[in-house]
Amino acid sequence: MTSPWVDTQRRRVLRAAATLPLAALPVVAKSAAVAAQVCSSAQRLFLPGDAGYLGRVALRGRSIAMSAGIVGALPRGITHGPLAFRAHVSGRDYRNPTLVLAQGERVRIRFDNRLAEPSIVHWHGLTIDSANDGSGIMVAQPGDAYDYDFEVRNRGGLYWYHPHPHGRTAGQVYDGLYGALEIEDADDARLRSELDLAPGRTEWLLVLQDRRPGSYAPIEQDRMHGYLGSQMFVNGTACAFREVQTRVYRLRLLNACNARTLRLAFRSGDATVPFLLIGTDCGLLRAPIRCTETFFASAERLDILLDLRDASAGDRVRLESLAFDPMHGEMDADAPGSAAAGDANASSGAMADHAAMHHDHAAMLAAAGAAVWPEGERRVLLELRVDRRTPYQRPIPGTLSALPPIANDDAQQRSFRLGFNKGRWRINDKVYAMGETPIELAHGSRETWLIRNYYTSMPHAMHLHGFQFDVLEREGSPDPVRALVVDDRGRLASDLGRKDTVLVWPGESVRLAFDFTLPFPAPQTYVFHCHNLEHEDGGMMLGVKVA
Ligand code: C2O
Ligand code: CU
Ligand code: CU
Repeated sequence: MTSPWVDTQRRRVLRAAATLPLAALPVVAKSAAVAAQVCSSAQRLFLPGDAGYLGRVALRGRSIAMSAGIVGALPRGITHGPLAFRAHVSGRDYRNPTLVLAQGERVRIRFDNRLAEPSIVHWHGLTIDSANDGSGIMVAQPGDAYDYDFEVRNRGGLYWYHPHPHGRTAGQVYDGLYGALEIEDADDARLRSELDLAPGRTEWLLVLQDRRPGSYAPIEQDRMHGYLGSQMFVNGTACAFREVQTRVYRLRLLNACNARTLRLAFRSGDATVPFLLIGTDCGLLRAPIRCTETFFASAERLDILLDLRDASAGDRVRLESLAFDPMHGEMDADAPGSAAAGDANASSGAMADHAAMHHDHAAMLAAAGAAVWPEGERRVLLELRVDRRTPYQRPIPGTLSALPPIANDDAQQRSFRLGFNKGRWRINDKVYAMGETPIELAHGSRETWLIRNYYTSMPHAMHLHGFQFDVLEREGSPDPVRALVVDDRGRLASDLGRKDTVLVWPGESVRLAFDFTLPFPAPQTYVFHCHNLEHEDGGMMLGVKVA
């Protein structure tokens, strides 16, 4: 495979962080000062229990009702949008419940729309028929209900749910409608028992959302680049800290930001603390992989083990988003790639307009009273404070899951180009038209998808409903991405395992493997879109028909 895009040295290059051996966790003095750059008063990280905000509820075959409406009272210290999903199960109240499901389980959920506008719930990452997928073709009008009834067919993993009414998705998610969905399977149970992990204590769900004060109010530039907040909230907690002991912790992260990509790393003082990546979007990897940092885009999930055995009481380890070039408005009309980009590329005039808009974006938001946190600017997200030593001797398992690759030997290749033209972000030059399905797939077929993002573009987090995929290769990556490549196919650690969302950087070509066998009769209808929610609402989405 060759890429028509050529790297140029004009790009700003950020050096990969220096790394430390896992054993040498340094003692730190300066971390409070670093955290103070952003946070005036640290708050204790909220961790979900078995009721209330983000509370875990195992459905175990019970049918439940879940409504979308005003959020109501929240625990002290929690910042959340004006809306939430609410459920009442066995005498307990939940806000944005973490639904815990078992493989093979039947799920019955009545969704009550108590909003003043249409809505519908999408179960992100699940293999599901189109009647239950909630892609926005069918919606519940205000005051109406929609009944879901489906079987859990996927691997153990951290999935999530959120509204998907076309054109209103970004606002509803931002205003607070999102929740985690955990599927448990045998691999997951084994990991928990081998490492003595307990949800809410040594296994933490971390839902990340960046917010500005107030509810969703995008200006034109927000629609173009994505809606960025001024501050990060982890499980609703700003400037979060939490006490830890000297053992292994499992951190399960969901990027529920409308548009923000993060570059995650753990730091202690000025040193990088390596971590083990054990899972991505759709469950565990085959084996843990040691990382020093990883990019993390909207809708993606990461499953991480952090080994604090060598820490001392008093040590502090920060989860940070490191500085990076977000590659927005990298509108270089003279780049060798733009000529090769052909018809489907935007004219240089349109791109120059976009670039100018991008540069004005922060200034306009500041004028409007919203000081956003620029994408790619370094921030501390969470601080772990080692309060005491504890004995812990469990070995990290060498094997996590037998995950057979998606076979692709007889696969046909299909190509996609991501670009901007006539004021809209587009896939293959098209914008979404409800009822149209420009992507037609044969039930039972296998395909590889080559997704190419123009050099003159911005990163797009691409997601297909109904099917999970393998990332086969990544080409033409910008230098900060290439610095994280772990194999000879240009892949990153975060590309490994089963995925449902993949970030495609400007100039990149990413190839995916799909098996379009469905346990449902044809036809079924899905959507393929960018998970930057402003791009999705703006039509960077195509209908998909499996016939
Ligand atoms: Cu997270 Cu179309 O979905
Ligand atoms: Cu941009
Ligand atoms: Cu996009």
